[in-house]
Amino acid sequence: MFLGNDTVEIKEGRFFIDGYDAIELAEKFGTPLYVMSEEQIKINVNRYFEAFKRWEEETGKDFILAYAYKANANLAITRLLSKLGCGADVVSGGELYIAKLSNVPPEKIVFNGNCKTKEEIIMGIEAKIRAFNVDSISELILINETAKELGEVANVAFRINPNVDPKTHPKISTGLKKNKFGLDVESGLALKAIKMAMEMENVNVVGVHCHIGSQLTDISPFIEETRKVMDFVVELKNEGIEIEDVNLGGGLGIPYYKDKKIPTPKDLADAIIDTMLEYSDKVEIPNLILEPGRSIVSTAGYLLGKVHHIKETPLTKWVMIDAGMNDMMRPAMYDAYHHIINCKVKDEKEIVSIAGGLCESSDVFGRDRELDKVEVGDVLAIFDVGAYGISMANNYNARGRPRMILTSKKGVYIIRERETYTDLISKDLVPPHLL
Ligand code: LLP
Repeated sequence: MFLGNDTVEIKEGRFFIDGYDAIELAEKFGTPLYVMSEEQIKINVNRYFEAFKRWEEETGKDFILAYAYKANANLAITRLLSKLGCGADVVSGGELYIAKLSNVPPEKIVFNGNCKTKEEIIMGIEAKIRAFNVDSISELILINETAKELGEVANVAFRINPNVDPKTHPKISTGLKKNKFGLDVESGLALKAIKMAMEMENVNVVGVHCHIGSQLTDISPFIEETRKVMDFVVELKNEGIEIEDVNLGGGLGIPYYKDKKIPTPKDLADAIIDTMLEYSDKVEIPNLILEPGRSIVSTAGYLLGKVHHIKETPLTKWVMIDAGMNDMMRPAMYDAYHHIINCKVKDEKEIVSIAGGLCESSDVFGRDRELDKVEVGDVLAIFDVGAYGISMANNYNARGRPRMILTSKKGVYIIRERETYTDLISKDLVPPHLL
């Protein structure tokens, strides 16, 4: 019924998530409320493992699904993903801390980012992670120096910039020459960095990494990316450098629009595996790492907001809900589309715009949407907010971040408490003369 959302249904005129009535959840746990479906996460992870089974069967090499923590690093979610066999792509000391608390085996943890601090590098070395994905020569030097001080050898992979257009929103493109990420291949910078690393005593070159962007709804950029990475792996071999891991990043999109089918993990797997296998007579096929975030958790998340006011202006009928842009930034930040429904089915439909209550004109979740007739007290569900929802939420307008619950076959659990007024000021300090 809703593309990508397999565990919801409309029953007896109401919206159900994992078999639970969304309106009852809103009443019991309050709004705004994030609802994460454990069942949907399991389905999404399983789709990846099923699709990439072929990899291990046909190559005998490992496949690691390193879930990108930035999408949603709630401890219950990361523990669930760890139990399901996922590794972790972390980009900060905080995410590494959470990955360790989630019992992710270190050989399934990779550390990304373009500005790793010395403290983060120490954490990664001490945790014995699979690899740092090095983003610059400056970072390589710091990793080598830090490992030396600790008397260790750090595993490094190199993030290359392949100059591939991912055909997605410019704010979430990462693999073009103009982006800040990676080491340019064409100019020889990536090769230069790897050759430097080969001469260093405290780093061990293990892989090549690449990530071209997010919310990709076309498979062809992934094929182009895979070719550029594998061409580079061949170039390295010709220089006498053999690598063990190829990491192709994340980026697979999800169907935010419910009337447009987009590629699945199976389509991605077939494209990547077929392309990689074209190289089997040129180089030894490496282990394969992917770092999906959005396609693992996005379709599992719903944000429920209660309608408090309705107002008609000459142009628009506005529906004001208690969720706002601080709770979910994507529409305000990227003009992102998220499907929205009234959790109560009505005979009458109407066109409305849905806004939060913050003092910003960009605090709008959807414009001119057809919804089942909205009345004060109704609960609306904003779809596909499991990724980059709570993880990008903030306290703008001094609003506490929402409560989050997990629905599953086992029951319903609070997995993050609502922030209170005292939480809002808990880090503020007042100097003596202002007391
Ligand atoms: N690996 C690296 C190195 C990344 O930079 C990212 C995302 C991922 C993996 C995961 O990509 P995914 O599979 O989730 O597309 N806040 C934006 C998305 C920013 C993504 C940043 N990097 C949004 O709400 O659309």
